Amino acid sequence: MAKNVSLNLFLPMLLLCAGVQSDVTFTFENLCSDTLWRASNPSIGDLEPDLPRDTYEIFNMDDHYSGSIWVRTGCSTNASNYFSCETGDCGNGIMECAGLNPSFPITQLNFVVNNPIVSYEVSLKHGQNMLVRIKPNGGTLVDGSGPCPMVDCNKELSSVCPLDLIAGNKNDQYVGCNSPCDGYKDPKYCCNGNGCQPDEISVKYKGLCPFAHTYPGDNQPPIYQCKGADSYDITFCPAL
Ligand SMILES: *[C@@H]1O[C@H](CO)[C@@H](O)[C@H](O)[C@H]1NC(C)=O
Repeated sequence: MAKNVSLNLFLPMLLLCAGVQSDVTFTFENLCSDTLWRASNPSIGDLEPDLPRDTYEIFNMDDHYSGSIWVRTGCSTNASNYFSCETGDCGNGIMECAGLNPSFPITQLNFVVNNPIVSYEVSLKHGQNMLVRIKPNGGTLVDGSGPCPMVDCNKELSSVCPLDLIAGNKNDQYVGCNSPCDGYKDPKYCCNGNGCQPDEISVKYKGLCPFAHTYPGDNQPPIYQCKGADSYDITFCPAL
């Protein structure tokens, strides 16, 4: 009898602890008109790649993760069953990227998860192939400066992308814009050497996407560190 009583008292305490140390939750929503195929490096556990349009998914992140998420667009499988994508392709012929590096351009969503703290940024340092938004639900910045802000890049770079940085598909349709560092491989765009300054191209990218990091060394806004958010809502093609 006594044993049962202590068990009953113990159980709610366990549940309470589980509640306090809850998982870091990411939600993914695809508001684009086509299916997207997610990828990550290093690979995020059992996240299924494909995210059809109008899909909303809830995903519990590992307690510790440091890496990038991106999406692949325009993917298809050819007659020899070889899977490839117009952007973000991993080059291995299958839907699972298995932690491989993608072809650029990609819009990078970078995270450092150290439950309960999550750092997050949208980076155009490897160009852009997708419009994205990361919106913490609740939470406060670790430095005490306020609530955790949304970051996004919701404008296509096509209007400012230099012709030789444009990525096209096999029908010559615009599918993304490369970063000057990746496209030109010129140290002046790659922050090799002293100091990292915006260049004339990344300044234009920044003008369209002020909350994204557009050149190596860009720290405006700072990489936010958020604690206690209920979830991090990741939206592709977020509505304006
Ligand atoms: C499918 O794509 C792969 C990789 O590009 C290529 O080697 C293969 O020949 C293609 N198969 C067909 C039937 O086009």
